Amino acid sequence: MKKMVVLTGAGMSAESGISTFRDSGGLWEQYRVEDVATPEGYARNPQLVLDFYNQRRKQLGEVQPCRGHELLASLESAYDVTVVTQNVDNLHERAGSRRVIHLHGELMKVTSSRNPNDVRCIRELTPEHCEIAWGDRAADGSQLRPFIVWFGEAVPLIEKAIEEVERADVFVVIGTSLNVYPAAGLLNYVPEGVPVFLIDPNTVGWHSSRPVVHIRKGASEGMAELIRLLKNYNL
Ligand code: OAD
Repeated sequence: MKKMVVLTGAGMSAESGISTFRDSGGLWEQYRVEDVATPEGYARNPQLVLDFYNQRRKQLGEVQPCRGHELLASLESAYDVTVVTQNVDNLHERAGSRRVIHLHGELMKVTSSRNPNDVRCIRELTPEHCEIAWGDRAADGSQLRPFIVWFGEAVPLIEKAIEEVERADVFVVIGTSLNVYPAAGLLNYVPEGVPVFLIDPNTVGWHSSRPVVHIRKGASEGMAELIRLLKNYNL
């Protein structure tokens, strides 16, 4: 089986009804990144941050994977697919994707404020009990916090993602503005000669001289088009 690595961003989940960050009307117009997605913001006003992610979790319970997520999961019958996602939602998994690397953490998980990557403290919330409150404790006794990689924090899974990208036979990018590193830098690890496809209705800041087939469509239509193209390219 050929190995396909797919890098996804907020545009992947846009058709499920989850706002992207940087498009007009996106989340970063309603909230300041520094307030809700940095360790400093959390130290300043933890309640605001806990509320922000409680709301995101509640919203996640109200949406479903889109056709794009489903088509991507269906490719596992023909390819060895690894999804490397910047998204913290669980829509890839809910659509049936089996190998998903969450670079920026997972919304449905919570962890220790003292040591966020301590596996003994990471636990998954359920859709029924998806809120955390000030005073809720992790296994190490510290305040529970969202299992999200905030700006300025290390991205522990990047090494694993790089290893996957280096072994790709086909690389696909879906719905990311490629503004955020190290995720955006993964493109540099795609072996020479490996075909690269981009699904995004808009122009993306593509800081690479690499040839790319840009499918200018949303995630669902774009995935259908990708499946046609893969056949044409004999991939
Ligand atoms: P952005 O909001 O920066 O980019 C979203 C991309 O999706 C843009 O290129 C849009 O053109 C595209 N898009 C919009 N609608 C689409 C659709 N229906 N189908 C396909 N693409 C569509 O989101 P990301 O690049 O994912 O990090 O942002 C990266 C990181 O920045 C996020 O993981 C988050 C954020 O701050 C943290 O919170 C740590």
